[in-house]
Amino acid sequence: MDLTQRTFRAVSDRVEDNPEFVAWWESVMLGFLAPSPQEIGVEWALRESFADGWLQRGLYDESLPAEAVGGDHPVGTFMAFDKTINVGGATIPIHLITDVTVRPTHRRRGMLRRMMVDDLTEAHAAGHALAALTVTEATIYGRFGFGPATFVQSVRVDSSMRFALRTPTVGRVELTTQATMGRVAPEVFARHLAVTPGAVGRGSLYAEQAAGIFDPRESARDRRVRNALHFDDHGQPDGFVCYDVRKQDGEHILTIRDLVAVGTDAYLALWDYLGNIDRVSRIDWASAPTEDPLLWALVDQRGYAVTGISDHLWVRILDPVVALSARTYACPDTEFVLAVTDDLGLANGTYRIEVRGGRAEVTRSADRPHAVVGVEELGSLFLGGVPARQFHVAGRLRADDIAAARLGQLFGGVRRPYCNTHF
Ligand SMILES: CC(C)(COP(=O)(O)OP(=O)(O)OC[C@H]1O[C@@H](n2cnc3c(N)ncnc32)[C@H](O)[C@@H]1OP(=O)(O)O)[C@@H](O)C(=O)NCCC(=O)NCCS
Repeated sequence: MDLTQRTFRAVSDRVEDNPEFVAWWESVMLGFLAPSPQEIGVEWALRESFADGWLQRGLYDESLPAEAVGGDHPVGTFMAFDKTINVGGATIPIHLITDVTVRPTHRRRGMLRRMMVDDLTEAHAAGHALAALTVTEATIYGRFGFGPATFVQSVRVDSSMRFALRTPTVGRVELTTQATMGRVAPEVFARHLAVTPGAVGRGSLYAEQAAGIFDPRESARDRRVRNALHFDDHGQPDGFVCYDVRKQDGEHILTIRDLVAVGTDAYLALWDYLGNIDRVSRIDWASAPTEDPLLWALVDQRGYAVTGISDHLWVRILDPVVALSARTYACPDTEFVLAVTDDLGLANGTYRIEVRGGRAEVTRSADRPHAVVGVEELGSLFLGGVPARQFHVAGRLRADDIAAARLGQLFGGVRRPYCNTHF
């Protein structure tokens, strides 16, 4: 089988200028088992690709018979784009990966491996310290050095008469139009990103989609989406929620599509608004923080049920010196020598992490390490979302008990990381 790999960027946001993108997008839809590849939001995807500088990657099979979906349609797809991530105390660039598919007729012949290794090697050479993705299956990406680093929980909140917060809320909540939300949400999100460890920058059209201005699956406005903004005491918007309400078995159920707050005041005030909408008896949200301020702010905690927890952002460290120097550390001053193993040869080595006043100086070291960890585990430890002891008891961290505890103190964050961006 003759396979050619090509990368390309959109040349404009007009479909007629980008036949290569259209074929690539149709292949993505085929790979994700979408119903009709020709019709799923290609204009929308192209607009975002052009605005965000997506780097599309495709593997093309020159040997396809004439009757097969064409040779101009890649049999493997992969896409990367650059955004920023809050690593705790700083926001740094991150290389985000998505749209990874291999045509079912070509699976398990190393095509994903080829695209992934090439992409990560190029990102590393270009100076990226971090890469990340979200996953459909938890068993695929560890082998490439990605570890689950942030988590979200699905919650079901009773919003009948039982819903009440323990303290009065601050600021005010007002309903807004889809158009205004599309305009204001990115500014609020930028402030949320600046203060939220684990938060990752959003695509240029993210807010429009969340607000209901455009649903790419339907190629139309999503009229079910309602939007509300929170204003602080100075009248500045500092939080928003996008939601819909549907009737099921005689009950009105509200589903949160997106909820972003700059701080806890806005977060709780938005919940107070949602929890007091007449006739709504239940609120569902699939992306709540695992350290949710709402739980301990409720008068009746039994009205808050966690119905599931899932991994969200998977982080891959490409350059430990840059990545580990960027974040802040909540532990007392310390020195730790950490060896990292990496099958792809990008991050391996031994590193001295010297913490003074919450910042770390990280250098390569020839000293004997206190602990040895795989790059996959380092990705999970890095933001403080998975405690080192979890890996230690699971046999995935080579260290004695004391060193494992010290490593846990080192990486333990001030707050649990939270990422509410889907890509
Ligand atoms: C997941 C997918 C991209 C894999 O592509 P592929 O070309 O078959 O993968 P490769 O042959 O390159 O396999 C690379 C490695 O991953 C492993 N692997 C691939 N798919 C896997 C899966 N679903 N579960 C567990 N391991 C998997 C292979 O065994 C192989 O391991 P090795 O190299 O360590 O021996 C492809 O099956 C697909 O398109 N699935 C549907 C879309 C999807 O879910 N995409 C993922 C989005 S996050």
